[in-house]
Parts: sequence; structure tokens; C-alpha cells
Amino acid sequence: MDSHALQDDTLDITLRPQRLSDYIGQTALKANLEVFIGAAKHRQETLDHVLLYGPPGLGKTTLAHIIAHEMGGNIKTVTGPSLERTGDLAAILTSLEPGDVLFIDEIHRLPSVVEEVLYGAMEDFHLSVLINREGTSRTLNLDLPPFTLIGATTRAGDLSSPLRARFGITEKFDFYAQEDIEKIILRTAKVLQTPIETHAVTSLALRSRGTPRIANRLYRRIRDFAHYQKAEAISNAITEEGLTALKVDALGLDDVDVRYLLGLIDRFKGGPVGLEALASAIGEEIMNLEDVYEPYLLQIGLINRTPRGRVATEKAYKHLKRSYQGQLF
Ligand SMILES: Nc1ncnc2c1ncn2[C@@H]1O[C@H](COP(=O)(O)OP(=O)(O)OP(=O)(O)O)[C@@H](O)[C@H]1O
Ligand SMILES: [Mg+2]
Repeated sequence: MDSHALQDDTLDITLRPQRLSDYIGQTALKANLEVFIGAAKHRQETLDHVLLYGPPGLGKTTLAHIIAHEMGGNIKTVTGPSLERTGDLAAILTSLEPGDVLFIDEIHRLPSVVEEVLYGAMEDFHLSVLINREGTSRTLNLDLPPFTLIGATTRAGDLSSPLRARFGITEKFDFYAQEDIEKIILRTAKVLQTPIETHAVTSLALRSRGTPRIANRLYRRIRDFAHYQKAEAISNAITEEGLTALKVDALGLDDVDVRYLLGLIDRFKGGPVGLEALASAIGEEIMNLEDVYEPYLLQIGLINRTPRGRVATEKAYKHLKRSYQGQLF
């Protein structure tokens, strides 16, 4: 990791709201969690296991930390692929205190042998692992303290159904509304102590793809332009200048989005085309396009998914300044 990324990560932590009431947007999800957390606290029980899913950068990790905080427990974080063997899972489970949160990020990438051990731990806080040592094997049986498992994933569809069924609470993240992204930028401006003009907030929010992580990143880059000019605040003029210099597209599209759309329009006459063919034409991974890029393109109506494949909409042609002939299907 270069020092730049490191700095951004540290900032990410300071930018994370600590309480549910400071968490902006995702209103329905927040209201549900308030009920479930409040009820569990009232009963003096741990919160049921929670599955959080949705596109990257929408606040899943942030919310997992908030849940732990609201429940008064500590949070231990691991990623699915880092738990290679059942012993790795056993080690982390036995280190939990009652009421702690175990946060498994990228839970769709948990190896299946580990996943099977997790079932018992989730269901009745019981751990049963087979230990092989020097040719003999024995089963280790342990009772665990009550804990809450929070799983996060960008691909809920990749979770096996037995695993999915063991989460009592499942919540989906949506892209944030423009006004929520504006609130997030204003909050970030406060935390980072560099005020920003109203029009500039709107401008940045429009290009943030409904994603807090992108909003915060754009804000920080534009703040660099302001500070480089020794300005105390971020003006509209500095924002426009910065956005032009950064070549940020009016809809917040990046290079991959543009290649996706141009590939669809220029090489496949706007579709319909299967995602596989399109991905190989533009040299991107199918999964990456499906999880990271398509959700937003669909959301803002630049593409459609049809039974016969992906299709570029008239809005996409207009945005990329291609003439639209009308589709023949
Ligand atoms: N509701 C929110 N209010 C304010 N800031 C937020 C909110 N949600 C996310 N953020 C900010 O966006 C950043 C990214 O959020 P986070 O890391 O939680 O996303 P994620 O969904 O876990 O992404 P990934 O799928 O890539 O792990 C955080 O550092 C935080 O500052
Ligand atoms: Mg995360």
C-alpha cells in the first residue's frame, strides 16, 4: 500500500459516523435496525446475526461498527478468504467476549469447510471442529459466548442457502439519494474543517454515483485544489476547475463505465449482448462489471438488462454523444 492510500484509509476511519443517529440515508434499513437493536437491548440479549449486502462503498463496514457500538460490544473483523482453515475460525470465535460482534467481510468468499463449522456457531453458539494431528483425529467441542455475526457482501446471490438462512436480519443497501450525498459531503467538510460552497456540494454530489466513498474521495481531491491555492474554503470556481482537471465525467462515470458503454454501443450496436461477450471485448472481469459497474449504470438508466442481454439506452447514446438510431427489438 502506498502512503497515499494509507492516508486515505486513516481519513476514512475519522469520517465514519459512530452512532446510528449520525448515519445519513438508508432510512428504511436504519429504522429496522433501530427496532432490532432496541428490542435486543431491552431483552438483554445479543442481536440476531445480520447480513448486509449491496455495491461497494455504501457503508456496510461503517454500519457494522455502529451496530457493535450501539450494542456495547467490541468488533473483530476478518475477511472470508482470510479464514482458510477451520482452525482459523475456531481461533477467532474462541477469542470473543459475550456480546461481541464478529464481522466477516466478503463473506461470499468463505471456504465451504469453514462455512460448515460456522453453522453450529451461529445456530447455538456451539463449536465443533475436527482436529487432525500426527495421524490421529479428534473432535473439539466448545461452547461459545453469545455473539452477533455480521456478514457483508457485494454478492448476496453467491451465498449458499444454508448460510443465508442462518441470518435473522438481512438488509440491502441502496445507492444514496442526491440530498443524502450532499449531507455526507457537508458532514465530511465539517470533520475535515474545510467549508465548501453550496453549489460546489451539489456539483460533487451529482458526480458521486450515489456512493459515500466516492463523495468523500472527490471532496478530498477538490480540497487539495483549494489548499494548493492556499484557500480556506472550497469555492464553486475551485470545484469546477478541479473537476475539469480530474476529468470527472458529468454523471461521475469513470474509465471502465465509459469503456463498457462504448463497447456496448460501438462494438455491439447497443446490444442486446451477453455480459460475457461484452466483458471480454473490453478486457474486464465479468464479476467486477456485474458487482461494481452495472448496478449504477442500471440505476441511472444508461443500460437495461433484458432476457437477451445488456442494452444501451437512448440516454447512454446522448451522454456519449453518439447518434441514437432507435433499437430494433
Ligand atoms: N451513511 C453514511 N454516512 C456518512 N458517511 C458514510 C455513510 N456510509 C458510508 N460513509 C462513508 O463512506 C466510506 C465507505 O463506507 P464503507 O467502508 O462502510 O463501505 P462498504 O459498503 O463497507 O464498502 P466495501 O463493500 O467496499 O467494503 C466510509 O469511510 C464512510 O466515511
Ligand atoms: Mg467494507
